[in-house]
Amino acid sequence: MPSSEISNFYKLKQADRLKAVREFANLDDNETQVIGSLAGLKMDTADRMIENVIGVMPVPLGIATNFLVNGKDYLVPMAIEEASVVAAASNAAKMARKLGGFRTSNSGPVMIGQIQTVGVADPHRARNEILANREILLAKANDQDPKLVSVGGGAKDIEVRVIDTSRGKMVITHLIVDCKDAMGANAVNTMAEAIAPMIEKITRGKVFLRIISNLAVKRLVRSTAVFEKETIGGKEVVDSIIDAFAFADADPFRCATHNKGIMNGVSAVALATGQDTRALESGAHAYAAFAGRYRSLTTYEEDENGNLVGTIEMPFAVGLIGGASAVHPVAKASVKILGVKSAIELAEVMASVGLAQNFAALRALATEGIQKGHMKLHARNVAASAGASGELVDIVAQRMVEERKIRFDRAQELIKELQTRRS
Ligand code: MEV
Repeated sequence: MPSSEISNFYKLKQADRLKAVREFANLDDNETQVIGSLAGLKMDTADRMIENVIGVMPVPLGIATNFLVNGKDYLVPMAIEEASVVAAASNAAKMARKLGGFRTSNSGPVMIGQIQTVGVADPHRARNEILANREILLAKANDQDPKLVSVGGGAKDIEVRVIDTSRGKMVITHLIVDCKDAMGANAVNTMAEAIAPMIEKITRGKVFLRIISNLAVKRLVRSTAVFEKETIGGKEVVDSIIDAFAFADADPFRCATHNKGIMNGVSAVALATGQDTRALESGAHAYAAFAGRYRSLTTYEEDENGNLVGTIEMPFAVGLIGGASAVHPVAKASVKILGVKSAIELAEVMASVGLAQNFAALRALATEGIQKGHMKLHARNVAASAGASGELVDIVAQRMVEERKIRFDRAQELIKELQTRRS
């Protein structure tokens, strides 16, 4: 397996970057062409994916380098409109490599389907009755998806809660489904709908909602990385990152932004690989609040050698079969670039990207601030929109950064000045 540590990848031209990725991931002509062209998604495919299609909305697809997860090298495709995210992830992954990269664990690809029953006279008895009928309910659920069952997945358990609501007590049945390599929404919703009439009969109540829960507490993925003290800037940086984490974990105003930074990485990989980004976002934030207060999805502490230990734990409802990851040509090629063989493996890489992204943001915030990094790219955009092309873009951008004057009119002046000097 080639290394994902490709030095100066960012300095290559787009076509050369694509060539390097092609070699790394053994992409064929078609996959390479699909990624490198603007026609990654054909109109008739788009037209079948959603309703009322009028076009497509391309976003940049970048590659984060340097990721070493459980001893395996990954180049990570990230689809995102925000500057600095891909560079920050690559940088953090490079620092994490020094002491072995990322190590992960998971709780399996298990989702929860909810069935809401109302109007039950004796909800606690109803709860016991549902649980007493566990085997026939599971059998009925599993009848809906023999394919999933044949690969070892399917409905595995039933849990029932009686909850107090503004409309009185409700009996909420949770169908616990091992989704294997599917994200699972279709399988779980079909199973929940199929057992609903049985639940009505058992409880003598009325079933309304039958739907997957995005608070996927049984589909957790964790990742850990140890960042060497000297590599990241010394004891002061270690301490300030731990302080930044403590701030986020104590204050929801800060924590919303802190967790958003994590999702910059997670959602970018999710979009690149055709996942349901909204399911991941809602799962992440609901899980962050699951202990009764909104908290950080990551933790930071110092190990016995003074190095910084970062961890992340969050739900990952992702899949490789069904959904856009199976039909969108760019998503399919992105999965191939990643080289992941299961939904869990994909989730483990995504968790590591989330941790890397958060570490990079905290390190920047606690030291030079994030604007410096942003400004370089911003300056390039201003230079290009003022009319610079080719190498002039970088020269003009560099000058504006040095002068701390990143303005359209200044870019125009510099372009004129440099062009006159050259002619
Ligand atoms: C910007 O998209 C993300 C950050 O605001 C995250 C953070 O503040 O931790 C830099």
